[in-house]
Amino acid sequence: MGPSRQTAPPRSVRQPVPPTTRAPGRQSDPAMTRVCNETFGSLPDGSPVVRFTLRSSSITLRVLSFGAIVTSLETEDRDGRAADLVLGFDTLEGYINKHPYFGAAIGRVANRIAQGKFSIDGKDYQLAINDGPNSLHGGLKGFDKVLWTPEILPNGVKFSMTSVDGDEGYPGELRVWVTYELNGEELSINYRATTSKTTPVNLTNHSYFNLAGHGIPTIYDHEVSIEAENYLPVDKTSIPTGEIASVVNTYFDLRNPVVLGNHIKNKLTEGFDHNFCLSLSKQRSPCARVYHRPSGRLLEVETTQPGIQFYTANFLDGSLKGKGGAIYPKHSAFCLETQNWPDAVNKMEFPDVLLRPNEEYNHTTWFKFSVVKQ
Ligand code: GLA
Repeated sequence: MGPSRQTAPPRSVRQPVPPTTRAPGRQSDPAMTRVCNETFGSLPDGSPVVRFTLRSSSITLRVLSFGAIVTSLETEDRDGRAADLVLGFDTLEGYINKHPYFGAAIGRVANRIAQGKFSIDGKDYQLAINDGPNSLHGGLKGFDKVLWTPEILPNGVKFSMTSVDGDEGYPGELRVWVTYELNGEELSINYRATTSKTTPVNLTNHSYFNLAGHGIPTIYDHEVSIEAENYLPVDKTSIPTGEIASVVNTYFDLRNPVVLGNHIKNKLTEGFDHNFCLSLSKQRSPCARVYHRPSGRLLEVETTQPGIQFYTANFLDGSLKGKGGAIYPKHSAFCLETQNWPDAVNKMEFPDVLLRPNEEYNHTTWFKFSVVKQ
C-alpha cells in the first residue's frame, strides 16, 4: 500500500450533480454496482446536498455529499428480508444539527487529542476543545460538517474536499479524498490525503451498525470478535494512559467471539469505547467479525489501519429522533472505527500519525456483509 504519487486528483464535479437516468434495481452481474443520485436537501447557505444510492447484488448504500455521511445500508437476512443496518436521520436537518457522528467521515483527526494540544518541530498547536477537556473527531467543525465535492465512479462515489491551513487549529492545507465502492457483498472505503505542512491525520467512518436493523433496541444478541492481542487502557476522559496492555485474562479478550449482552452485563457494564491494537503492517488484514445469529447476518471487517475503536454506543440515550421515528437507546448499535490510535500525536510509542508534505495518506477498510444459512 505504498503512496501512489502519480495518481491524478479526482476531477471535480460541480454541484448539483444532474440526476442520472440509469434505473435502480437488483443486479444480475454480482460484480456490478449501479449508482444514481438525487438532491437530498439544502444547507442554510442554499448549497444543495446530493444523496448517492449505490446498489450491488447484495447491498444498497446511501451516502450524502454533506459529511460524506452513510445514511443507510440495506442487506437481506437469511430469509430474504431486507433491513437498514445503520442509524441515521430522515432529513438533512438531523445531520446538520449536533449528533453523535452518525455515519460520517471523521477528520482531520478521528478520536481524542489530550487537551487539544500537540507540538510539531518545536511549534505548539492548540485545537478547539469539544469533549470534556479534549479535542474529539476534528473539533467544532469536523469533516462530518463539510460539503464534499462528489465524483461518480463505475462502482461507487468519490468525495473530495480541502481543509485550509489552520482549519480547527491544524497546520497545513490538507486535500482529502474518500471513496465508497460496492463490490458484491463488500463495501470498501478508501481514504487519501496530501498536505502542504506536516500535520496529524487520522480518517475513519463513524457508522453505527445494528445487524438486526436500526431501531432494534439492543445489540446484546450480537456475537463479536476482534483480532487484537493488545488494547489501550484509558483515563477517565478516555485518553490512553500510554500503556499497551495485553488482552489476556481481561474482558478485552475478544479473540474468540463473545455474545455482547452477556459480556457487557457480566464484565463491562458501560460497554466498550476502546482502541484495539491491530497489525502495523499497513497491509489488508482481518480485524473484526460480528455475527447476528437470529438473522444470519455476518459482518467481517478488514483494514490497513493499525487500530480499531470498538464503541457500543454507550452515549446514546434515546433522545434523538431517528429514521422513520426510530428511538436509539444506549447499546442499540456498535461502531467499528478503523483508525490510528487515539492521542498518537502526543505518544511517541504509538504508530506515527503525522503526514508530511512529500507523503500520501492512503488507508482502506473493507466491510463484508454476508448471510450464514442455517
Ligand atoms: C467515538 C468516541 C466515543 C464517542 C463517540 C461519539 O466513538 O470514542 O467516545 O465520543 O465517538 O459520541
